[in-house]
Amino acid sequence: MDRELQEIFNLAVRNGVNLFDTADSYGTGRLNGQSERLLGKFIREFPGSKAERDSIVIATKFAAYPWRLTSGQFVKACKSSLERLEIEQIGIGQLHWSTANYAPLQELALWDGLVAMYEKGLVRAVGVSNYGANQLVKIYGYLKSRGVPLCSAQVQFSLLSMGKDQLELKAVCDSLGIRLISYSPLGLGMLSGKYTASKLPPGPRALLFRQILPGLDPLLSSLRRVADRRRKTVSQVAINWCICKGTAEENLGALGWRLTPDEILELESAADDSPRQMIQNIFQTR
Ligand SMILES: NC(=O)c1ccc[n+]([C@@H]2O[C@H](COP(=O)([O-])OP(=O)(O)OC[C@H]3O[C@@H](n4cnc5c(N)ncnc54)[C@H](OP(=O)(O)O)[C@@H]3O)[C@@H](O)[C@H]2O)c1
Repeated sequence: MDRELQEIFNLAVRNGVNLFDTADSYGTGRLNGQSERLLGKFIREFPGSKAERDSIVIATKFAAYPWRLTSGQFVKACKSSLERLEIEQIGIGQLHWSTANYAPLQELALWDGLVAMYEKGLVRAVGVSNYGANQLVKIYGYLKSRGVPLCSAQVQFSLLSMGKDQLELKAVCDSLGIRLISYSPLGLGMLSGKYTASKLPPGPRALLFRQILPGLDPLLSSLRRVADRRRKTVSQVAINWCICKGTAEENLGALGWRLTPDEILELESAADDSPRQMIQNIFQTR
């Protein structure tokens, strides 16, 4: 399995993909931190040129665990990530989520943690994840007052997650010069076209898919129409929509081409016809 992951990593880098997003919480139990460890190993063992290796940017996310209550604890978390990755500096150090919804007093420690890791040169840039428009404006202002630019905001964003909150966030990002990075661009797989109400994935996703998939026929038909016309896969078209919105930049076959404005409209109006959209990440603030 790790070998397969490494081959996919090598293929991606050889094809010009150079941003890899991970988190210090990816990998549970005895595999805690394993995602960062593997990424570090893949970079070290990358069989290509030094220039290709040097172009790789690691974005990792620091969990707002309840016991991380001071900025120093976030700096410590950042140093642990650097050790697992075995690199000198993280490309983008991100807060994985905001605690504003349930532990507002912890929030300032998160913000100061980002400032401290940036000032110490442990991260080249800082970003956030699961911040809604209001909270994003607040942290942007705070970081600016401390001389730290906010580089990116990562949220769920796809043809199944383009509601009012996400579009407002996108507008705020555009106006402040923050890069929006979309996660779950395939709606956890629902926008790949390979699942139907009678063909569900194993595990907990099935519960969610059972609620949403029955209403997705118009959107999946639109995706298939565009995919056939462009000789692409349904997944590549769904990701290309994210790319056209300026929120994603990868997944090989989705690269090197652009949907036309008419195709974008066709997909969005089909998405609007879907009775149920993705459930928002409970950690995303307003
Ligand atoms: N910041 C956050 O809080 C947060 C939260 C969630 C995710 N993320 C990030 O976002 C990344 C991706 O999102 P995601 O995994 O949640 O969801 P996603 O990309 O929307 O969906 C992933 C699923 O789509 C299917 N898939 C992917 N590529 C495909 C292809 N080419 N053809 C057909 N099916 C394909 C696979 O389903 P099967 O497994 O069924 O084959 C895969 O598990 C994660 O790696 C993570 O780093 C961040």
